[in-house]
Amino acid sequence: MIIRELRAEDIGPLSIIEARAFSMPWTPADFARLIEDGNSCYLVAEVDDRVVGCCGVTNVSGDGEIDNVVVDEAYRNQGIATALLEETLRRGYVMGVENFTLEVRVSNAPAIHVYEKAGFVSEGIRPRFYEKPTEDAMILWKRNIQQLPH
Ligand SMILES: CC(C)(COP(=O)(O)OP(=O)(O)OC[C@H]1O[C@@H](n2cnc3c(N)ncnc32)[C@H](O)[C@@H]1OP(=O)(O)O)[C@@H](O)C(=O)NCCC(=O)NCCS
Repeated sequence: MIIRELRAEDIGPLSIIEARAFSMPWTPADFARLIEDGNSCYLVAEVDDRVVGCCGVTNVSGDGEIDNVVVDEAYRNQGIATALLEETLRRGYVMGVENFTLEVRVSNAPAIHVYEKAGFVSEGIRPRFYEKPTEDAMILWKRNIQQLPH
């Protein structure tokens, strides 16, 4: 597996993975904006020359908002999201992020497991945050990163 930065040619395959995984997927234009955004670092995982997942962080005044963690269904449970998240934390730290945060549906046990394994801790619930279907969000943080994550 290779982890590298998002390129324009990844947007097509990623949009397909997104549409399969989320009821309100990001559009190709959403991904294209990230490539241009100097405060964001967006990574993809590639297996056998095929883009199979992505994850990214946007630095908002030292807080890193992680979003859109997704892995193609056929490639799940092989450690790909974990590897993407770890590299995103390293890249975010280099960009000046000390605190990372993300939201997740409270029913999304695999994602919550990945985030808690990476050191994220729940700091609360945002009621009815998600649509299609309506569901609460768990707000997770990983705070006070003082050195480059392993
Ligand atoms: C969440 C997601 C990104 C994880 O990707 P992945 O590449 O399969 O993740 P990993 O292989 O790194 O880790 C999966 C972990 O979840 C665990 N897991 C799998 N199913 C689980 C379940 N039902 N309950 C709890 N843990 C579960 C696996 O055992 C593994 O843990 P381990 O490494 O300790 O054994 C993937 O499931 C996905 O794309 N889901 C749809 C999109 C999504 O919900 N994204 C998150 C939005 S916040």
